[in-house]
Amino acid sequence: MKADFWDKVTHFAWQVTDEVGARLMGAFGNATAEEKSDGSLVTKYDKWADQALSDRIAEAFPDHGILSEEAEHVFPDTDWCWVIDPIDGTTNFTRGIPLWGVSIGLLYKGTPVFGHVYIPPVKQHFYGYWPGDSGLEMTTGAFMNGEPIQTAADEPSGSYFFSLCARSIKVLQKPFPCKIRMLGVATYNILTVASGVSLGAVEATPKIWDIAAVWAIAQAAGASWTNLNGQAAFPLAVGKDYTTHPFPSLVTRPDLVTKFEPLVKVIL
Ligand code: IPD
Ligand code: CA
Ligand code: CA
Repeated sequence: MKADFWDKVTHFAWQVTDEVGARLMGAFGNATAEEKSDGSLVTKYDKWADQALSDRIAEAFPDHGILSEEAEHVFPDTDWCWVIDPIDGTTNFTRGIPLWGVSIGLLYKGTPVFGHVYIPPVKQHFYGYWPGDSGLEMTTGAFMNGEPIQTAADEPSGSYFFSLCARSIKVLQKPFPCKIRMLGVATYNILTVASGVSLGAVEATPKIWDIAAVWAIAQAAGASWTNLNGQAAFPLAVGKDYTTHPFPSLVTRPDLVTKFEPLVKVIL
């Protein structure tokens, strides 16, 4: 793809997440949640943001497909597809913890090649470009508010963080070589690895909308992504319904995979 395509994607993703994030800030800490059939929470703001992002994508990229947490879970038969998590960290959003994000990933032939996550309460825009095996000639790199980010060079110790999700606390039954954090936002957990704030993150049951954007950002920042069930996470299959499909994931620096993987496999 030509450079002007990526300029358009970059500008669009920043603008749309910024606008939707600004609107969501008006409801932050004051939203009433309902429980969905899978036990996760949803508010009218998740639904509004999902629709607003979908409408803007359809207008800007009419030949691209869309898969989103609150609307369409079947992967479409289009070369390009956006995957939306309108609010990642809905529980933080409703209760008033200032860590939740608006996440959009762009897939080419079923594999993420670009992601953008905006964390409105702290005004952090994370984005990254990762061609992987796509065959696309494109730039690579990961950024936060325009500055390059990369994984930390440090060794695990009691002074460095590792993030868990609420469904991976079994990991703590044995001694763990880092300090543990549980932030309540799959994207941000993984972005802490990408930005060198933590050395690793595990998410036990994330869905495609939790990981599509950060898959590209984390790898562009030098992280390695391990699908803990041994299956290839990507490409997604055309026509498949991703409602319940989990992607149990370990994200860490490539040389730390052999250290952390045996310690976190207990979540499976
Ligand atoms: C959830 C959060 C949570 C993670 C869950 C996700 P939601 O997303 O990211 O931290 O552990 O797996 O479903 O429901 O707030 O978009
Ligand atoms: Ca989510
Ligand atoms: Ca969500």
